[in-house]
Amino acid sequence: MSNHKFIRVWEENGIGRIELNRTKVLNAINRPMVTEIITALEQFDRDHDVSAIVINGGGRAFAAGADIDEMAGDTPVSLELLNQFAEWDRIQGIKKPIIAAVHGFALGGGFELVLSCDVVFAAEDAKFGFPEVKLGVMPGAGGTVKLTKAMGKAKALEWLWTGDSMDAAVAERHGLITRLVAPEVLLEEALAFAARLVQQAPLSLRLIKDTVNKAIDYSVYEGMQAERKNFYLLFASRDQKEGMKAFIEKRPPEFRGE
Ligand code: CAA
Repeated sequence: MSNHKFIRVWEENGIGRIELNRTKVLNAINRPMVTEIITALEQFDRDHDVSAIVINGGGRAFAAGADIDEMAGDTPVSLELLNQFAEWDRIQGIKKPIIAAVHGFALGGGFELVLSCDVVFAAEDAKFGFPEVKLGVMPGAGGTVKLTKAMGKAKALEWLWTGDSMDAAVAERHGLITRLVAPEVLLEEALAFAARLVQQAPLSLRLIKDTVNKAIDYSVYEGMQAERKNFYLLFASRDQKEGMKAFIEKRPPEFRGE
């Protein structure tokens, strides 16, 4: 169990668990909480016993956005000097799979946290949206960029300009969600998926994530060059030798992440 103030952090069966834990304010993400989340992710990323990470929200929501009380008095200069959004960039540096398990509200910064994850399991009651426009601001931690890349300009602007929340089924239709599940089995399903990843070759997972992330921004040609390099690189691993030897010997492989 962790000694964090705004999240709970623990490890179980090769899965790193992070639960947002400011339930009285629907897990509104204040600045220390951002630091705690990113530090926990980086620690799991370095922990050889962890193969995948699952993030969920405690209480009745995933997260209802950045903490409005904390932000209300900010000025451009205070924001520039603090530059805390730079911390969000560090999530992109996490090499291991990050799975979001989302129920209830995932708004503003909460939605941005979801969009920073690799795979999203959502309960049927989940609601996603960017209500920043109603506060006289706009998303600041990647929301406009990631939503537009996911659903295109025309649809992204509709959600960003209205600030409306979309139901989980709509989010799924837009390709934002990996799997839609009943609320009562959300964590079970997300953890079962994570458990499958724990069985896979860790270096393969890592380089697949790296290559897929590059595919988002690269041309097909550039993406294929990156893919090829990572494919070749895996042949330096002990797990490639083990995986192919196990296939030939008709037995399950024993991957070690080396
Ligand atoms: N910041 C601070 N406190 C918040 C919060 C937030 N983002 N969201 C909810 N809370 C607090 C509420 O103030 C309330 O506190 P009190 O009990 O002390 O009054 C508590 O959480 C419960 O919320 P509600 O009573 O409002 O619950 P509800 O079920 O009636 O409504 C809600 C839920 C629709 C999510 C509503 O709370 C809401 O609109 N929240 C704000 C959502 C929002 O605007 N998010 C964007 C923030 S800006 C951002 O995220 C910028 C960025 O890009 C990083």
